[in-house]
Amino acid sequence: MTQQELARQAPPTMRARIESLRQYRQRLEQGGGPDRIARQHQAGKLTARERIHLLIEPETFQELFLFARHRCTAFGMADKEIPAEGVITGCGSVDGRQVFVAAQDFTVAGGSVGEMHADKICQTMDLAFKCGSPFITINDSGGARIQEGIDALSGYGRIFYRNVLLSGVVPQIAIIAGPCAGGAAYSPALMDFIIMVRGSEMFITGPEVLKQVTGEHVTGDELGGPEAQVRSGVAHFIAENDVEAIAICKRLLSFLPANNLEDPPDRGDGELRLFNDPVLDTIIPADPREPYDVIPIIKRIVDDGDFLEVQRGFADNAVIGFARIDGSTVGIVANQPMVMAGVLDIDASDKIARFVRFCNAFNIPLITFIDVPGFLPGVAQERGGIIRHGAKMLFAYSAATTPKISIILRKAYGGAYLAMCGKDLGADRVAAWPGAEIAVMGPEGAVNIIYRDQIKQADDPAAARAEFVRQYRAEFASPYVGAGRNLIDSIIAPSETRRYLSLALASLRTKREFRPQKKHGLVPL
Ligand code: HXC
Repeated sequence: MTQQELARQAPPTMRARIESLRQYRQRLEQGGGPDRIARQHQAGKLTARERIHLLIEPETFQELFLFARHRCTAFGMADKEIPAEGVITGCGSVDGRQVFVAAQDFTVAGGSVGEMHADKICQTMDLAFKCGSPFITINDSGGARIQEGIDALSGYGRIFYRNVLLSGVVPQIAIIAGPCAGGAAYSPALMDFIIMVRGSEMFITGPEVLKQVTGEHVTGDELGGPEAQVRSGVAHFIAENDVEAIAICKRLLSFLPANNLEDPPDRGDGELRLFNDPVLDTIIPADPREPYDVIPIIKRIVDDGDFLEVQRGFADNAVIGFARIDGSTVGIVANQPMVMAGVLDIDASDKIARFVRFCNAFNIPLITFIDVPGFLPGVAQERGGIIRHGAKMLFAYSAATTPKISIILRKAYGGAYLAMCGKDLGADRVAAWPGAEIAVMGPEGAVNIIYRDQIKQADDPAAARAEFVRQYRAEFASPYVGAGRNLIDSIIAPSETRRYLSLALASLRTKREFRPQKKHGLVPL
């Protein structure tokens, strides 16, 4: 008997019920209706359902809590229909792997967050937590539903609480595709990655209020648009539109394990790709003060030149991102000599420390490319707490038990060298290129102190200083000194780096490192 024949056999009351279910479901699925949807499209935005259809393979999407209904009676709300409570929730596959999603529907009550809207998000998060699957939000909302008062506020609190429970268990990614203002911004802020679409805004206090309270005049975009929030370190990626944001989200997911108990996805065939790349032997300039771009070096070493840089536009003196070696994900950290000579400052320390902790939480091996002249000197840095911020890097690397491999490309001076995961911070492998300079401080600074009198008394102080610098570089700063102390395990030609990393990562796959039981360490926040 066909399904149609079966359906025809159902008692008339059931048939009527199913028909009214169909109609009701259709009404709920229309969100704010054609006019609101047209307005959403005119604003260059997709609807919540269109966004989900782009993210999740449509036939795998299972919507949950479509019938949720608010119970607010204040301000004439008793009879107000808010289809799906202004947020679409459910689960489905992205490239064959399950994710849970909550997409706010701006066409319905401005995507505002009421008690049941929040409950839908919370229950979806609970399922993501139990199933060990990534949780993704697509934010497009006017904030707390004002008519629902503290019930709305409490809803946010429940979401924040779950953001923290999920943290380090499953990856959490927020796409900001519209307004995300006030306290609402703290849910994405508690997640791992924020992708902002051009035209979206995140801020705690909006421009209108600022004008009244502080007298500052600024547009919403200047205050909390994607560029501004990348510069502040809040956002990680900028997308030109919704389609690009979802593409970035999928690319990011492709590098991540579903949860903290899994290894990252492995696209390899079990073969190591041990190639030498002679071009790398020609990249580092002969003059140690001359800058070069570290990103092409990273791209030449990783699989297929595929490097997903994270937080470009924030502390660009440090580079972080995901790539693959022999099919498996690695987290890359590098100093960028092109920007401020690759020095570490407050923002670079925060950027690196957070990334290292993310990789460690999700079993992603870390590769650190070092060319660092030190921590940035300056009153602003000291007053801003460079000691506290730099300490976050030392803490994050020392606490990380995921495989850690460091490659010293050129300069590795002082505390900044240690902070970039030198051997003493638990690096499992440290290799240096032959021109590397590893020392307690840069040669110029060092000779000014240890040869101060000799330089002063020399007939030609400049020539004497230059000679002392040359000697210091050769005798103390050479990688052979570090290798002689086993602080560096190998000195390799740049062209051999890929081979070195492939073998090291393969060897470290079974790495186990144990730490004393404690509630948690006290990272110097
Ligand atoms: C209830 C809201 C709403 C809200 C928007 N709407 N925000 N309803 N609560 N927070 C409704 C509007 O009344 C309107 O309904 C519909 O959504 C579309 O909004 P428009 O204003 O027509 O859209 P637009 O012109 O695009 O402006 C979008 C907006 C604006 C900039 C977001 O709506 C706005 O400023 N909303 C208020 C934002 C706000 O102050 N939120 C803070 C709440 S307190 P109708 O039926 O008229 O079409 C907060 C604290 C949270 O969030 C703390 C958590 C820790």
